[in-house]
Amino acid sequence: MPVIHPTLRAGSAQFEENLRAYQATRDGLREAQARSVQGGEEKARALHHSRGKLMARERIARLIDPATPFLEIGQLAGHELYDDPVPSAAIVTGIGIIRGRACVIMANDATVKGGTYYPMTVKKQVRAQAVARENALPCVYLVDSGGAFLPMQEDLFPDEQHFGRIFRNIAEMSALGLPQIAAVMGSCTAGGAYIPAMCDETVIVKQTGTIFLGGPQLVQAATGEIVDAQTLGGADVHTRLSGVADHFAEDDTHALSIVRDIIARPGVRTYAPPPAPPRPPLYDPTELPGVVNANPKDPVRAHEILARLLDASEFVPYRERYGPTIVCGTGAIGGYPVGVLINDGVLFSESSQKAANFIELCSQTGLPLLFLHNISGFMVGQEYEAGGIAKDGAKMVNAVSCARVPKFSVIIGGSYGAGNFAMCGRAFGPRLMAMWPNARTSVMGGEQAATVLSLVRQEQLAKKGQAMTAQEIEAFKQPTRDHYEFHGRPVYAASRLWVDAVVDPVDTRDWLTLGLAMAAASPREETRFGTFRM
Ligand code: COA
Repeated sequence: MPVIHPTLRAGSAQFEENLRAYQATRDGLREAQARSVQGGEEKARALHHSRGKLMARERIARLIDPATPFLEIGQLAGHELYDDPVPSAAIVTGIGIIRGRACVIMANDATVKGGTYYPMTVKKQVRAQAVARENALPCVYLVDSGGAFLPMQEDLFPDEQHFGRIFRNIAEMSALGLPQIAAVMGSCTAGGAYIPAMCDETVIVKQTGTIFLGGPQLVQAATGEIVDAQTLGGADVHTRLSGVADHFAEDDTHALSIVRDIIARPGVRTYAPPPAPPRPPLYDPTELPGVVNANPKDPVRAHEILARLLDASEFVPYRERYGPTIVCGTGAIGGYPVGVLINDGVLFSESSQKAANFIELCSQTGLPLLFLHNISGFMVGQEYEAGGIAKDGAKMVNAVSCARVPKFSVIIGGSYGAGNFAMCGRAFGPRLMAMWPNARTSVMGGEQAATVLSLVRQEQLAKKGQAMTAQEIEAFKQPTRDHYEFHGRPVYAASRLWVDAVVDPVDTRDWLTLGLAMAAASPREETRFGTFRM
């Protein structure tokens, strides 16, 4: 198999400068990650523990098989999004292996505002369910939530992708034969009660678990009846009288072991091992931060990345000499074969056509696709418009949209405008999408946007016979540059779930391996492309 060799090596001045710039970006992110994983305030965590309850992340760690990784989705969701801190949007979601089966796990964090649902909590749970459905994985709900965050009900209750969608998804996935299992490890009030009630099978913990449509306060207000929470909807009531829950657990650990036994029943698809043994790249992946350009406007060369990302640095290129601004070819990550598309410059007509063809080929053979974004966009200008760049770009977007093989997207540099679409941005349904800490994404670069807006302003003024000085133009442009820089950062994107994770370059192989493993056993779908404009 052909091997890719890098040219930029550790120790060179350029490498060291890149590394320093990368570390500076990374440091800013570390604080956001630390705040996201700690859960609620110390007081709330202490109270939670004093009730004999484990934290959401502790529960997940005990639920999954020992020494197996947890592929977290949306760790930074909710970061600096609301007036109050809402770490990880008050719910921890991701994919873990339970008794050898890959499962999507969703665990409310009751230390963050009683585990209530902010708009982002709903978005995150719906996203996790979408991952489960697409990859045909069982769902485990570790429920500990006060239901809707009432002050923001209008932003989370009434719309199509709001609260109700979570329950509809449970019913639909159950109908598809994907097990839906709940463990009630705290409150499950009002709408929240429908999670355990709608799941296929439900476990409830003694003393701490409760399920009711209306809590004691509401019951008293509505009917005058005075009743405590356990008598109203505790584990004894629901496993002995109501049948709302199926299994009585003594504590959190017991509940998690019952869930593990349920998942291990025959009929749940086991995790698919790689078809070939995983082999590390010949060139050290820890060097990746040193090959990311210190200046984010300078693209990263494709071969520098591939040599440090693919198994044994092996890569079989497709049409290497044609449309070289996109590099396409096949390789493997963690032993799972993959078709790779990585930018190496602006997209031209030839590169777009080549990429569309490559996507067709991978779809025919069922090969998963990996898009590594490093793209400022499609080539503009009279010559290219006359050459039909719009219809050639559309071919690539068509191919990306319709390809029914598992798609994965990682923004390793810039991802701008239609380049983002063609490289399988969020709207194009990648099964997972990540950004590197140095990466940026927006409709166009901040400098371009500032220039466009300043030209529009100058034209308006010219009609009135006025003009701007060079200083005025500069002062006009700067806020737009700042705005784009702020909103294009990975932490901003991740807090809004535009990407599932911010992943370090060095962890990217592991992250992709888990993603490919998750997708490997999902049923193969037939691809049917839309009309390609010739
Ligand atoms: N909406 C908004 N905030 C809520 C909330 C809700 N539904 N439920 C709880 N909170 C807030 C509390 O005001 C408190 O905020 P603070 O830390 O700023 O004071 C925080 O969440 C923790 O609540 P607290 O009652 O102190 O914690 P707890 O662990 O003892 O109890 C609940 C948690 C969820 C069991 C309890 O607060 C409760 O029963 N809430 C009402 C649930 C409800 O009726 N929901 C209906 C949804 S449709």
